[in-house]
Amino acid sequence: MAVDLTDLDMWVRGVPYAEFARMRREQPVSWCAEAQPNSGFWSVTGYEDIVTASRDVATFSSSRGVSFEEPTDEEMAARRTIIDTDPPEHTKLRKIMTGTFSQRAVAVYQQFVDGLTEQVLDEGLADGPFDFVDAVAKEVPIRVLARIMGLPESNLGQFIDLGDRLIANTDPDLTDVVWGRDDTDAYRLYPFRSPYGKQLWDLGREIVRERLAAPRDDLLSKLVLARVDGDALSEVDLDNLFSILVIAGNETTRIAMAHAVLAFCEYPEQWNRLRADPGLLDTATEEVLRWSCPTHFMRRTAAAGAELGGATIRAGDKVVLWYVSGNRDESEFSDPDVFDVGRAPNRHLSFGRGGPHLCLGAHVARLEVRIMLAALARRVARFELAGPPRRIRSNFTNGLKELPVIVTKG
Ligand code: HEM
Repeated sequence: MAVDLTDLDMWVRGVPYAEFARMRREQPVSWCAEAQPNSGFWSVTGYEDIVTASRDVATFSSSRGVSFEEPTDEEMAARRTIIDTDPPEHTKLRKIMTGTFSQRAVAVYQQFVDGLTEQVLDEGLADGPFDFVDAVAKEVPIRVLARIMGLPESNLGQFIDLGDRLIANTDPDLTDVVWGRDDTDAYRLYPFRSPYGKQLWDLGREIVRERLAAPRDDLLSKLVLARVDGDALSEVDLDNLFSILVIAGNETTRIAMAHAVLAFCEYPEQWNRLRADPGLLDTATEEVLRWSCPTHFMRRTAAAGAELGGATIRAGDKVVLWYVSGNRDESEFSDPDVFDVGRAPNRHLSFGRGGPHLCLGAHVARLEVRIMLAALARRVARFELAGPPRRIRSNFTNGLKELPVIVTKG
């Protein structure tokens, strides 16, 4: 019997890799029913079909959002951010930020990330069992983001907390307002349909006001000074850009780091191999990204009828691109279920691929993961699980909320 990909309790137990493999084999683009009031969706599970749909933005539009939610026009207008736009609007917004996130611009942060990572490991790597997510993974990405965006150090704990409540808006352990369980109508105009979306906007507005009064050399100042077709960005644009940057730049990278350590607990020979040959750091970073796939999917909406993977899609249909499945597609990756720190080529889908929405922060994320792996390799001989990892209740994020480990230093 087919697995229900919207059953979040199933995702708590693990990613349904076997089910995705069956779907890729039998019906790579298949229709999946969904509970009311939602209307059902196409699951795109094969690598090539995912890339094709990502590339064809005229047919597969982002303008109705990228999650399972089916927002009204009013909700969409209030919450639309760069990721929910199509060209040409998307191109204009993206242009404001591409310089900040280019490979060259990001390389400038290398020293800062090196120092930060060392400091976090000095404090976080305990002698007994500890939670790697809380002690290490959670601490790095938000501080890098703070540096790039210009977020005040004093509020970082609050950003982490609000980001957790938003991205895990389906997990009752992490938020008291649970999407799909509670009545969220009162918050429908805020990110993730959550009251914490409003709190994040409010924090953002304070900082934006300060930057308007006295711009600095940071991304937020760039955003408040930007002009699109001669106009400044609206308050709605600024609110939503602020929240997507904080959420997309923080949680995802943390997830990749935590899954890296989980993978090295499970495949200690791969850790030994990486330690013995630091020349593998680049391929190991890409393999960690493929393996961890922090964002399981992005959704598109068909703007016109289309054929994809043998399926006939109608205008208006919801189309879910399962990157987490494409990353294990045997037609693209040899032995896809093997974690191999030397894997090359590795054209994984974890940042998207082929389309204009390709992750803006990919170079930042790579830098952070690579530096974390290198720093751990200098300090840790062996990782072992000290208890079961706990997964976030979500089909969107591959987040771990707890990863109890013991490290052998050396
Ligand atoms: C391991 C870490 C990360 C992963 C796995 C990840 C994943 C993704 C994915 C899957 C997309 C959508 C791609 C598409 O549909 O074509 C995306 C978009 C985006 N990401 Fe990331 N991301 C990560 C880190 C970051 C960081 C560090 C930042 C910012 C500092 C960031 C900012 C963004 C933004 C702004 C977008 C929207 C881009 C657009 O619509 O043009 N991400 N990311």
